[in-house]
Amino acid sequence: MGAKKVVIVKGSPRMEGNSAILADRVAAGAESVGAKVDVFYLHGMDIQPCDACEACHTNVEDECIVEDDMQVIYPKLREADALVIASPVYWFTVSAQTKLFMDRLRTSRRQSVATCARREENRHCSHLWRYGSF
Ligand SMILES: Cc1cc2nc3c(=O)[nH]c(=O)nc-3n(C[C@H](O)[C@H](O)[C@H](O)COP(=O)(O)O)c2cc1C
Repeated sequence: MGAKKVVIVKGSPRMEGNSAILADRVAAGAESVGAKVDVFYLHGMDIQPCDACEACHTNVEDECIVEDDMQVIYPKLREADALVIASPVYWFTVSAQTKLFMDRLRTSRRQSVATCARREENRHCSHLWRYGSF
């Protein structure tokens, strides 16, 4: 069995803030047991808002068509065994950077970027079904 793959997204603009420190601890722990870790600092990336075009649910590839830095993250997510979202609490929820990222996860029924409980049934995946805790 190959190394587990972990994607960590940092949602704070503070590169050495609290959530970044925690994310780094998670990365170090995962790497210490042989996992391959990819870390993305969202604040430094071009991530546009989801424009709800629904192309990702209607085009042949089931992929997001917005050409920005999410196209760098999507392939990593498809390969990943785990996704870690490290966000500060801003106004009782995640940071704007994190929310942009999360909204852009609404893509692909067939090649879901994250596990969907209903994928086996080939039924529509809502965020709740995909991520459970959101
Ligand atoms: C715009 C903004 C909104 C915030 N809203 C909340 C909040 O609703 N609740 C809270 O407990 N802290 C809030 N905070 C404080 C941050 O959650 C806190 O400073 C946190 O440690 C920042 O995470 P970071 O160190 O990873 O950047 C807010 C901070 C900012 C800048």
